[in-house]
Amino acid sequence: MKLPQYPQSYWLNSTKLPQFPSLKEDLKTDVVIVGGGISGVTLAYLLSKKGKSVVLLEAGEVLSGTTGHTTAKITCQHDVIYDEFLSHFGEKYAKQYYQANNEALSWIKQTVTEQSIDCDFKEQDAWLYTTSVDLVPDLKKELQAYQALGIEGELTDSTPLPFKTRAGLRMPKQAQFNPVKYLNKLLELAVQQGVQVFEHTTATAVDKPSYVITKEGHKIESKQIVSCSHFPFYDDQQFFFARMYAERSYALCFKPKQEYPEGMFLSIDQSKRSLRSVMIDGEQHIIVGGENHPTGQGICTIRHYETLEQFAEETFGIEKLLYRWSAQDLTTLDKLPFIGATDNKPELYVAAGYKKWGMTTGTAAALLLEKVITGERSPYVDLFAPKRFYADPTIKTFLTYAGNMAKHMVKGKLFASNRHAEDLENGEGSVVSLHGKRAGAYRDQEGKLFIVDTTCTHMGCEVEWNSGDLSWDCPCHGSRFSYQGEVLDGPADKPLHRIQ
Ligand SMILES: Cc1cc2nc3c(=O)[nH]c(=O)nc-3n(C[C@H](O)[C@H](O)[C@H](O)COP(=O)(O)OP(=O)(O)OC[C@H]3O[C@@H](n4cnc5c(N)ncnc54)[C@H](O)[C@@H]3O)c2cc1C
Ligand code: FES
Repeated sequence: MKLPQYPQSYWLNSTKLPQFPSLKEDLKTDVVIVGGGISGVTLAYLLSKKGKSVVLLEAGEVLSGTTGHTTAKITCQHDVIYDEFLSHFGEKYAKQYYQANNEALSWIKQTVTEQSIDCDFKEQDAWLYTTSVDLVPDLKKELQAYQALGIEGELTDSTPLPFKTRAGLRMPKQAQFNPVKYLNKLLELAVQQGVQVFEHTTATAVDKPSYVITKEGHKIESKQIVSCSHFPFYDDQQFFFARMYAERSYALCFKPKQEYPEGMFLSIDQSKRSLRSVMIDGEQHIIVGGENHPTGQGICTIRHYETLEQFAEETFGIEKLLYRWSAQDLTTLDKLPFIGATDNKPELYVAAGYKKWGMTTGTAAALLLEKVITGERSPYVDLFAPKRFYADPTIKTFLTYAGNMAKHMVKGKLFASNRHAEDLENGEGSVVSLHGKRAGAYRDQEGKLFIVDTTCTHMGCEVEWNSGDLSWDCPCHGSRFSYQGEVLDGPADKPLHRIQ
């Protein structure tokens, strides 16, 4: 079966989104929200409902970031996590993590019903499963954590999947939806409530006393500023780049030969696989996800799609392959997201680090920040406080990632390529040698050559070619750049230097 030539998300293809102008003047408002993904759009909806004036800035187009490239399971079953949280943070915080996500799930469900949102919302059980007997004890321990925390769940010897599994841990009454259809409606309601949205408007800095500055130099004066930009657009000496790491993962959407059972599934095996169904034109399709790896450090990226394709063929059989896409999400060193006020500026808030569970966590972030900004209390402020530092679990991972960065800075500079730009075929990209120096080259389908300096503009690591998504990806903190050098993902905020 032939993989689709270009990556494209089903969610973005299924929904016609409105267009918004770019900002062309200075403004004054109550709250500026930077980033139009699930966190930013949900928060804009909530705050405007409470009568706040809100300006939402989006560097590209709304919902086209990670939210437009998710697999959109709405669940509190975030892999095997509760046993770990229970031992690292204790019962109170582990329970609160579940409660915050469960409230977010209920809020989404209630909002879909109240606003009659047509977004293919469907209640589903969530399952963790394994095909290895060696991993059954991990599911048993996770079930014990569920029991200790009062989370509903059951362990079974098998699952409804049509291939052999050794055990399954079921969390009932979770859900799935089409996130772009859902958020498109929230955005429409937010605009009706007075939210001003500006696309192709990048926030670059925060100035005293409380201004957001855009790339074009416009200023927005506001009482509060919220960074919902996936990677926080303004670091404020918080060193977020050293306290979070980016991982890419891949998704395929296909029409199966065999029928898909009810449920959403995630394997805990070494090669993780995520499965859910989706109805397209009245017919059942499957989205399979997986093949995680740190950004900029994978094998030839198209192979990740091929591996998923092979899994799909072996398990359900592929009648037709419709879409392939990939994206990245950020994980903090202690695996809890950063949601709340930053240390240095109490009027500046961040929401980031959802560990690939942002449908509930991004919604939980919006619910928490709405309360804080409108002067109400939230029980989750301490749990998610970005200024926390739980030393124990973080230190080891921190050192691994710091060592990783040093390795990639040195390795990249020493690397000599024996390829040259003129050798590249149409549609091919590679690190090349240019006048004896390392450079990055891509030749498009029409034969036009694009050459960039491969030094990442964030902190100087060397970017690597991503053949699956035609981008330059940085192995150090996950910045990504288009083949023309434009920033696709932060923390970098400046393009790669173009070489003519
Ligand atoms: C492959 C994959 C599958 C996933 N599956 C699931 C799942 O099944 N369930 C689940 O719960 N979660 C899942 N996730 C995670 C979830 O999709 C993310 O956590 C969530 O979408 C993040 O939302 P966000 O609003 O923080 O960021 P985004 O959706 O990325 O939105 C941030 C926006 O900010 C904009 N921006 C960035 N910088 C600036 C700036 N300086 N100025 C203005 N705008 C800016 C960006 O353009 C972007 O549109 C998955 C993630 C991946 C990668
Ligand atoms: S993202 Fe930090 S050096 Fe590239």
